[in-house]
Amino acid sequence: MGVAIRGTGGALPEKILTNFDLEKMVDTTDEWIRQRTGMKERHIGEKETVPYLAANACRRALENAGKTAEEVELIIVATCTTEMLLPCAACRVQNMLGAKDAIAFDINAACGGFLFALNTAHHYIASGACKNALIVGAEVLSEIIDWTDRGTCVLFGDGAGAVFVEETEDGDPSGIIGMSQGSSGMMGKILYCRGRVVKGETEPEINSENLLVHMQGSEVYKFAVRQVPVCINKALDMAKLEANDIDIYVLHQANKRIIESIAKTLKVDIEKFPMNIEKVGNTSSASIPLLLDELNRSGQIVKGQKVMLSGFGAGMTFGACAMVW
Ligand code: UT7
Repeated sequence: MGVAIRGTGGALPEKILTNFDLEKMVDTTDEWIRQRTGMKERHIGEKETVPYLAANACRRALENAGKTAEEVELIIVATCTTEMLLPCAACRVQNMLGAKDAIAFDINAACGGFLFALNTAHHYIASGACKNALIVGAEVLSEIIDWTDRGTCVLFGDGAGAVFVEETEDGDPSGIIGMSQGSSGMMGKILYCRGRVVKGETEPEINSENLLVHMQGSEVYKFAVRQVPVCINKALDMAKLEANDIDIYVLHQANKRIIESIAKTLKVDIEKFPMNIEKVGNTSSASIPLLLDELNRSGQIVKGQKVMLSGFGAGMTFGACAMVW
């Protein structure tokens, strides 16, 4: 039984923070940010929360797929920045949508989360446990960023992206044809966020600064350019395809230079790697479905094309998914 994406949706907070705004906050320049990352601006949630953005992205994905919330059987939200510990973001999204018959839960695999959620939904549907799912990547990373650290605060933006997936009918060639994912917990220290004080920990180990995101940027960079091509090649093997058989690569939008390096390693023309990093920055688990939504709505992805999704994130986690659109 096949599983295919039938609708996409995205949602961004209203407020835009430009590189020039950041120049006034930390010791950085528009030129440094553009040259080192490809970013010009990003959206920052002020009143928008993870469930709010996720629900809006889901409504658009449902509309795009021609489905109603009552028909949804599974909702998975990939997030590491939802504003409440309990209930999970997916249950709050279920409530906001009125998707009363859905199973709903969250997955935290950081920026790699959307691919982990998609893989999980694929297994639910392929096993016959349900027929369709809403998969959302949603983050308000601005909540956990150290706004005095120029090495991280210029990189991230907030937003949500969603896809509606369902089982395909016999004879339909569209759908997922190869998947690969993995985790490198041994490398957890290169990108982490403690988030809250836990029992037995007191000052000076814990203070507000070390509750926020800490990143060894160049180590994350090296990890990504080494691991993502390996992961993509595994998904290609499963799909029995070569790298150049893929029409469009939709990669996690962490850094323009990372994407260029991956294209070079795979020996694929950079033209096949569309980007929206300039406008939205790194939106973590939302980045792949947000870009996918832009491409779908603008007609840049069309039926029958072969699409590769791939990304990586804190954990470290990484994943890839090949599909026929
Ligand atoms: O979703 C996953 C999350 N994270 C990532 O994907 C991040 C992956 N890493 C990266 O994208 C890059 O490593 C960064 C964009 C974070 C940094 O770029 P880089 O080319 O690796 O720079 P670097 O960390 O080696 O730093 C080079 C210099 C340093 O100054 P010195 O020591 O050479 O004097 C930094 O202090 O650039 C400095 N620097 C900045 N300068 C101006 C670091 N951040 C900034 C900044 N503005 N915002």
